Amino acid sequence: MSATLEDSPRLASTEVAVKLDGVRKVYGRGDRAVTALDGLDLRVAPGEFVCLLGASGCGKSTLLNLVAGLDKPSAGSIELNTSRPAVMFQEAALMPWLTAARNVELPLRLAGFGRADRRAKAAELLELVRLGGVGAKRPHELSGGMRQRVALARALAATLRVDGADAPALLLMDEPFAALDAITRDVMQGELLRIYRSTGTAVLFVTHDVREAVRLGQRVVLLSSRPGKVVREWAGSPGVEDAELTDEITARLREVISSHAAG
Ligand SMILES: Nc1ncnc2c1ncn2[C@@H]1O[C@H](COP(=O)(O)OP(=O)(O)OP(=O)(O)O)[C@@H](O)[C@H]1O
Ligand SMILES: [Mg+2]
Repeated sequence: MSATLEDSPRLASTEVAVKLDGVRKVYGRGDRAVTALDGLDLRVAPGEFVCLLGASGCGKSTLLNLVAGLDKPSAGSIELNTSRPAVMFQEAALMPWLTAARNVELPLRLAGFGRADRRAKAAELLELVRLGGVGAKRPHELSGGMRQRVALARALAATLRVDGADAPALLLMDEPFAALDAITRDVMQGELLRIYRSTGTAVLFVTHDVREAVRLGQRVVLLSSRPGKVVREWAGSPGVEDAELTDEITARLREVISSHAAG
C-alpha cells in the first residue's frame, strides 16, 4: 500500500533527502518493551540508492515505517526533504476489485489529479514497468511478478504531485522482490535500476539478499542485530555483479547474525 503522510517532516537544507539522527524505537512498555532501533544515524542524498541489510528482526521494516511516517520514533529525529514518500512492500497489496490501471490511478486520485491526467499518467507508468497491455486486467489475472510491477508503478505514481513541484521523490522498498522466483527477481532488479535511472528518485531499499544489495545500491548499509544501528557501509556497484564485495559483506552479515545468536 502506498503511504500517506499528513504531517511529513520537512528539512530546509537540500543536501540530503533523508536524515535520521539518534533514532530510537521502543515497542511496548515495562518488561515487555522491545527496543527495535537505538542510536541510528543515516543520511540518504537526493537521488541516491541506498540498500539496508541486516539480520531478521533487527529493525529494518521499523526503520522504513518511521521514514514513511506510518509510525513515530521514541527518540531522535527524522527529517525529509522530499515529496511524500511512496512505499512498496513484499506483497503487492493491490486492491483486488480494481484493474491494474485503476490501482495505479488510486494515489493520483488521492493527490488530486483530474480524471484525464490520471488516465494518462497511469498508462505512462504501466508502459514504464512494461505492462502497457494489461491495464484492464485485475490483480488475480496477473502473475506475482506482474503484480509487483503494478505495485512499482503505483509507488511511482504516489511520488507525483499535482502542482508538479519538484521536491525530490523518495521510494521506500521493503523486500519488494523477496516473494518472487530467482529469475523474475533478477529481471525486476534490472527493471528497477532502469526505472531508477530514468526518474532520479532516491531509494531506500531493504533486503536480506547481499547480492541484491550490491547489485542495486550505490551504498550498502549493514545494521547490527536488534537494537539496530548502522555498523558498516560500503559503496555498491550498481548494475554490476561484484562477487568479491558480495563475499565481504556476507561475511560481515554472518558475524552480525552470529553475535546476536550468541548474545
Ligand atoms: N508493532 C510492533 N509491536 C511490537 N513489536 C514489534 C512491532 N513491530 C516490530 N516489532 C519488533 O521489533 C523488532 C524489529 O522488527 P522489524 O519488523 O523492524 O524487523 P526486520 O529487520 O524488518 O525483520 P525481517 O528481516 O524479519 O523483516 C522485532 O523484534 C519485532 O518483533
Ligand atoms: Mg522486515
